[in-house]
Amino acid sequence: MHIPFALLLIGAKLASSIPSVAASDIAPSYVGYLISTFSDVEPTVKFYLSNGNDPGSYKFLNRRKAALISTVGTRAVRDVFLAVNGDRTMWYMIATDLDVKAPGFSWDKATRKGSRSIVVFSSPNLVDWSAPSLVTVEDSTAGMVWAPSAVWDEKTSQFHVFWASKHYQASDKDHTGKANQDRIRYASTADFKTFTAPTDYIAYPGTPVIDQEFQYLGTPGHFARFFKNETQSQVYQEMSTTGLFGQWKSLGPVTPQKSLEGPACFADIKNPGVYHLLLDDYKQYIPFTTMDISSGKWQKSNFPLFPSGLKHGSVTPVTQAEYEAVERRFPA
Ligand SMILES: *[C@@H]1O[C@H](CO)[C@@H](O)[C@H](O)[C@H]1NC(C)=O
Repeated sequence: MHIPFALLLIGAKLASSIPSVAASDIAPSYVGYLISTFSDVEPTVKFYLSNGNDPGSYKFLNRRKAALISTVGTRAVRDVFLAVNGDRTMWYMIATDLDVKAPGFSWDKATRKGSRSIVVFSSPNLVDWSAPSLVTVEDSTAGMVWAPSAVWDEKTSQFHVFWASKHYQASDKDHTGKANQDRIRYASTADFKTFTAPTDYIAYPGTPVIDQEFQYLGTPGHFARFFKNETQSQVYQEMSTTGLFGQWKSLGPVTPQKSLEGPACFADIKNPGVYHLLLDDYKQYIPFTTMDISSGKWQKSNFPLFPSGLKHGSVTPVTQAEYEAVERRFPA
């Protein structure tokens, strides 16, 4: 959803001088979708590019090999997310720094003494990528930093970065005691090097929450957000008409199905009002679609060609120039 948040602000700026211009009139025209993802077998960043503008059919780029590989921290990435600024000149691939195949790995250890950093690759153009860096975003009381995502804020020329974490008492230096519940945290950054102090974003009494992502809905301040409610491992949807930091209303689980995580939502580029939602069933994505996102009701998509084995990532609409550049640099 990176661009649209910028657009609402550009739209607002223009609106004062040219009242008839709607945000959608100045939206870049998108021709396809780029999925940034990883697999359990190979915890690296992989690109899948849609065949034309078909949201259900993709080619595995870079001859079916990793596009980006982490050489920092655990040397493994999970939960990859592609962020871009308003004029599409700063791209950041961010990811969880976690290797579930490391010797002595356990989920308990991973949440007590896991990485407090995210892995960051940067690019001016989506094809020339920096070496990875490890950037600490959390306090020393945090046990882990999972599933980062980011939203560009045109007004302040920075990204708001969100992730899931749990925290131990300051006196519990070794994180051996009881932690608070998993919650969504955030910080802001202009360069993915220095961040503001991390703060709670979603901390629900009684409900542990991880894996949060947003979808801009085309009207200034209107957003959906999706997260994993860990009580029964279901993905929940909430809506706001008052911005990211406004009031949110729950629409409940997007499907009664359990054991789902890693929601990745994207707007259909040819059918206005249609949205897609990829949900990771711990093995791979299951695609869902809705014609009315405000209903919170989603149906399994009829995507017989959707590739198997894709996990928790993000979907980015791309322009013709971006589509061609990424395909040229990382041929299928
Ligand atoms: C999380 O899910 C449980 C049911 O599994 C539900 O009772 C609870 O209200 C949900 N929490 C939120 C914040 O939606």
